[in-house]
Amino acid sequence: MLQIIKDEDFESARQRLQNDDVVAIPTETVYGLAASIASDQAIRKVFALKKRPFFDPLIVHVASFQQARDVVADWPAVADYLARVFWPGPLTLVLPKRPEVNPLITSGLETVAVRHPRHELTERLIAAVGPLAAPSANRFGRTSPSRAEHVATEFPNEDLLILDGGPCEVGLESTVISFELTDAQDTILILRPGGVTEQDLQQALERWSKPTKIQLGSTGIQAPGQLKHHYMPDIPLVLVGEGGNPASPERLKAIEKTLGLRPQRPTQLTLDTDPAIAAREFYDQLRRLASSGADAILIQKNASRSGGFWDAINDRLGRAASLEIP
Ligand code: TXA
Ligand code: MG
Repeated sequence: MLQIIKDEDFESARQRLQNDDVVAIPTETVYGLAASIASDQAIRKVFALKKRPFFDPLIVHVASFQQARDVVADWPAVADYLARVFWPGPLTLVLPKRPEVNPLITSGLETVAVRHPRHELTERLIAAVGPLAAPSANRFGRTSPSRAEHVATEFPNEDLLILDGGPCEVGLESTVISFELTDAQDTILILRPGGVTEQDLQQALERWSKPTKIQLGSTGIQAPGQLKHHYMPDIPLVLVGEGGNPASPERLKAIEKTLGLRPQRPTQLTLDTDPAIAAREFYDQLRRLASSGADAILIQKNASRSGGFWDAINDRLGRAASLEIP
């Protein structure tokens, strides 16, 4: 039976995790579907419930530096510095893994992703159970959950315990970074933009002793956070060019041409002008509009909204969209 539990039932969450089961956990970014990193069975269940392919690695959630260092084989000075600045918080570090980390978690890669989430309930759970491997608690490729109820609608028929920690404070996933280190200079690669912005990293690195460059990039690993289509709602989301009526007959015709279906009941997604609020509300808005009876969601582009937190929002919008029209 699907159960949403609160703080007072913390014990049952702990027990499930210690008995090879999964639990949905709150974090400051989005809800995660968690397994103890020591349980092969629970890790397999995470992939099965999400229908997630095994080539997509999971993030290991820790509640201390020691737990992070127990899963990585190398803890470079710059990683240590950034973790000190941004943990607990929405920054995920990709580092060489220790051989004992279950290869199911890392999809057979030589690296492991770690982060210390900022949520009291989940930090307590990790302190009790040990590190938790957790992807976002949604069906593969679909809109991420920023509230306990969202998780419930993703897995209505499962025997799943959801630990309700309230609405997520950040609302978008963590920033995933990896490192290229040389004697002369360190390079930080942003693999997925998120809750810690490029400017946040830049600012922190200005106070760091060694020259460090930030680069947007991918390691060439096909991980779904980097796939073109991801985070998709149940009805098409269409990115519309600036100016004019987003639902003009010409635009609806352009949509029909590509999707083969003319929207009869289009609705519009409007983001808050404050990017922190826009991010917090984003997945909830997408879900509400997708179940509102509308048959397409239109969102108008806005070139003035870029940089800072908008980078992560624009990244998710681009991947959640089925198509883009002028
Ligand atoms: O905020 C978040 O990061 C949330 C909460 C639950 O912590 N988690 C999350 O997990 O977004 P998930 O599985 O939906 O996305 C994790 C992404 C993967 O898509 C992948 O791109 C990247 O992290 N990742 C994990 N391990 C990696 C590795 N070894 N190398 C490169 N990328 C990795
Ligand atoms: Mg995800």
